[in-house]
Amino acid sequence: MSRRPKVRVFPDLTSMSLAAADFIARLAREDATLRGRFAVALSGGSTPKQLYALLSSPPYRESIPWQNVHVFWADERCVPGSHPDSNYKLALDTFLSAVPIAAAAVHRIRGEDGPDTAARAYDEELRAFFGRSGFPKFDLVLLGAGADGHTASLFPGSPAVGEEKRLAVPVHASPRYNRVTLALPVLNSAEHVLFLAAGLDKAGVVHDIIEQGNPKRYPAGLVRPASSMVSWMVDRDAAALLTDTAAEEY
Ligand code: 6PG
Repeated sequence: MSRRPKVRVFPDLTSMSLAAADFIARLAREDATLRGRFAVALSGGSTPKQLYALLSSPPYRESIPWQNVHVFWADERCVPGSHPDSNYKLALDTFLSAVPIAAAAVHRIRGEDGPDTAARAYDEELRAFFGRSGFPKFDLVLLGAGADGHTASLFPGSPAVGEEKRLAVPVHASPRYNRVTLALPVLNSAEHVLFLAAGLDKAGVVHDIIEQGNPKRYPAGLVRPASSMVSWMVDRDAAALLTDTAAEEY
């Protein structure tokens, strides 16, 4: 818990997205070889769009062992899967529809069923896939961070942040939509957590979490798996307030 996150700073979103695609492709190959499976939880938002598009383009489309990949979501808005603000639709349009992944390996959150029903069904899907003891161990959770310090759909001050039992939690009346989110203990059980943050509006949160030890207890800063390292990939703008050498420039 005490280890600082690893931070890599990139000149722009494009170079950051390429590095993230390289990281995901390598991890997916390693995990497919080692344990025959790569289970990833995706986020929504604007930052991962370029990354997702890369995953369905050469060389990543060919180098990722799609037959071993299982895709889940860190969170979802309570809208139909065809809605422009659906996180499932974002992934479907940018890469899932263009790669050879089996429909059964795409574990979406059915936001259209409403937060309570969708969260219960997703919780059950997670237990059926990962087993019923302990928390699921994702091979990778991909997260973003909001300027208010939220991550996935864990917003500051929301009771969902304190969830200790359920794996997936309904979130009522968060900005614009009700939502469903993975609970913090699930994020903190992952093998790897990768945050992507771009833009000046993230600079304060990135600085507080990475250099100040998260004094405001932003949900994004509470993601600190005990047994693995959290990595942040940030663009120069999001890194604008970082002052020390903890961040490696790329
Ligand atoms: C969502 C998210 C959310 C997102 C952050 C960052 O569905 O909205 O999963 O937690 O990752 O809000 O969003 P941006 O990438 O748009 O800054």
